[in-house]
Parts: sequence; structure tokens; C-alpha cells
Amino acid sequence: MMIKFDVSNAGLQENILNYQDKVSTIHTSIHDKTCKGNDFLGWVNWPVDYDKQEFERIVKVANKVKDKAEVLLVCGIGGSYLGARAALEMIKGLYSNDKTEVIFVGNTFSSTYFMQVKEYIKNKSVVLNVISKSGTTTETALAFRMFKQFMEEKYSEEECVERIIVTTDKCRGTLKQLAVEKGYETFVIPDDIGGRYSVTTAVGLVPLAIAGVDIVKLMQGAKDAYNEFNTADLNTNVAYQYAVARRILENSGKTCEMFVSYELQLAMVAEWWKQLFGESEGKDGKGLLPCSATFSTDLHSLGQFVQDGNKILFETLLLVEKPQIDTLVPHDAENKDEMNYLAGKSLNWINQMAQLGTLEAHVKEGNVPNLILTIEDTSAYSFGYLTYFYFKACAMTCLMLDINPFNQPGVEVYKKNMFKLLGK
Ligand code: PA5
Repeated sequence: MMIKFDVSNAGLQENILNYQDKVSTIHTSIHDKTCKGNDFLGWVNWPVDYDKQEFERIVKVANKVKDKAEVLLVCGIGGSYLGARAALEMIKGLYSNDKTEVIFVGNTFSSTYFMQVKEYIKNKSVVLNVISKSGTTTETALAFRMFKQFMEEKYSEEECVERIIVTTDKCRGTLKQLAVEKGYETFVIPDDIGGRYSVTTAVGLVPLAIAGVDIVKLMQGAKDAYNEFNTADLNTNVAYQYAVARRILENSGKTCEMFVSYELQLAMVAEWWKQLFGESEGKDGKGLLPCSATFSTDLHSLGQFVQDGNKILFETLLLVEKPQIDTLVPHDAENKDEMNYLAGKSLNWINQMAQLGTLEAHVKEGNVPNLILTIEDTSAYSFGYLTYFYFKACAMTCLMLDINPFNQPGVEVYKKNMFKLLGK
């Protein structure tokens, strides 16, 4: 099994298996497409049903533009942004000497950010991938207008056609129309897959392939997870165990789930997870507030609240068995820093001891329930597997609350106000 799930530090007040009947009913309703939000279930069979021809075209186009892409600008927001960034950081780590540097835009109105990116890339060789299912999201559409102009000033019309890639709806929307008119390469965001469930479609695959991630392995991970979690059996399906454990903890009075990892390269996976669970579950006055921390970094900030503050939260750890790279603490003859007691020990071992010590502190003295998920490594395969695990868990846990996991009516309210102020 690729993901291990441990509830022994959560003090669950109910047995997960008591929920078998409910889970079986919901599982059937997901798979026979009768659940709430059933027009957005394309992600369920996607790891086996995905368009193989389009996948080959992604690989081909990525190989073609890779050499040109000193900088890959990825323009998108929400589900059209977070997945690719989460994957990139998890798989490659935060610093790599790869030829292609990926910069994310279209996810903010910040003028300083826009101008600094523009200045930073002005003498670099740039490829631009705009990603928007609707084609009308204001942050993305504005940034695309401005970076498209930047490209048009920098390159000839023909060269722009080689360097601008559009990922959007198959036939609808202004972005699709523009792409067809200009002759840009286009990839499809399927109708029945919402943004936050789309990382294994062209939304994530195009930028990841250009950045050199092995997307064949990533899809293999998703496919293996699809097979693993294609059962209602709570004895074996850890995605559903996690879904149920969240509900049990909520029933015991918790209102907030903190995603905790001990690897900085998982911080964007936490951001992606926050969107998936927050946007799927937070509606009709229900849901757990998803928040996140990276330890031991945040033990020196949020750690105080977790240990000692208001008992509103439980933690869900995402642990990695094998770090990408490990190293030993060197011996120092002078030992003025008095750190020689750790000489010869691996940094990862020290990280693990920090984790064990914290677990005991938070659970035993802090009385904070901990759920523990463990994955083998941070490979492309594991990313594909992990994201499908979370999709399945998220759908189940939301449907247990009788919530549609696939819409986001709440995000329209600010837009209405903003458009009024902008004079749209
Ligand atoms: O999960 C979602 O559906 C949203 O977060 C969208 O991905 C986000 O609003 C961006 O939308 P679009 O791809 O239409 O620009």
C-alpha cells in the first residue's frame, strides 16, 4: 500500500467501521453518478479514461518547446494554478538546477508582482501557458492580456504561435476563440472535471511536462490509486478511512484541520489541499476550516497555538518515508556550538526525532488529536497517487455532510461586488 493511515494518536470516539453502510451507499452514488454534483464526476475514472491521444500531444509539444523555455510562465489561478505548483515543488524540491524556471502569474492583481516578473524575464527566453477553464477569470485574463503583449513585443507573430499554449474549454469561451484565431496550440479541460480536481488533466500535465516532470509515472500513480480506492470496503480503503475520521473528529467538537508536514517542498501541496477541501466542503454553514503548517519551521510560530491554545483543531500529518536527499551532520573539532552530540547523525533522522517529540507533546500534553498519513517518497508517481487519494477522500467526506463537493457558489459573491466597483 502506497499510503499508510494511522489513527492511533487521534483518540477517535467512534469506530470508523461503524460508518460502513453510509460509506457504501455514497461510494455507489459516486460510481453510478447519482450523487450531488454528478455532472462533475469526470475525475473518478480519469486515471484510466484520460484522452491518450491528447496525452501524446502534450509530451510532443513539451519536448518541442522545452529547449526554448528558459522561463515557463504559467498563467492561472485556483484549480488552474495550485496543482501544477504543488507537483513541481513536491517532485523537484525548492531549488533545482533545471534549465526551465517556472514562474506562476495570473494568480494575483498585485502590480508589483506583475512588474517584477516582467522585468525579471525581459532578457530571457519565454514560453507562456495560459490555463483557464472559463477563460473569463479576471486575474488570469488580465495577466494573459499583459504577458501576451509582452510576448508580441519580444517575438514575431510566428514565434508567438510557437511559444504560447492555451489550456481551456474544448469549444466555449473567449480564450478558446482567441487561441483558434491566433493559431496557438490548445489543450482541453474536460467539461465534467472542476478546477480543483484537474491536476492530472492538461491543466497540470502541460506545465509539468515542459518543466521536465515524468508525467507517465505521475499518471501511473493516479491509476494505481484509482484501483486501490475503487472499493467501498472501509477495512482497506484508506481514503475513505481518512474521510470518516475527519467526520468523527468534527462530531467530537473540532472545527479546524491542520495539514502538517516536515518537508518545505510540501508547503504548496498543503495550499492545493486547502483549496480542494476548503472549496469543496465549506458551504451551507458546514465544514472543517483547512489550515496548514510546516514543521519544525512553524513550531516556532503556530506551534504555540497548537500546543496550548483553543482546542478547536486536529492535525493531519503527511509524512514522507524516504527524503529526496539526506546528509550527515559533520564533526567539528572545536565544538564551540556544542553540536557534536549530533555529529554523524543524518538530518532526516533529526527531522524524524523532531516529529516524534512533537507528536507526543501535541497528543499527550496538548490533547490535540493527530491523524498520520505516510507516503513513500516525493516522486511524480507518489504525487499522482496522493492527489487521487485526496480526491476520493474529499468527495466522500463532503457527501457524508450532504454537501455538493464540486461547486463553489460562495466565490461568486466577491466577484459580483468587485465587478460593480470595476464598472463591468
Ligand atoms: O476549483 C475551481 O473550479 C476554481 O478554483 C477554478 O479553478 C478557478 O476559479 C479558476 O477558474 P478558471 O480555470 O475558469 O479560470
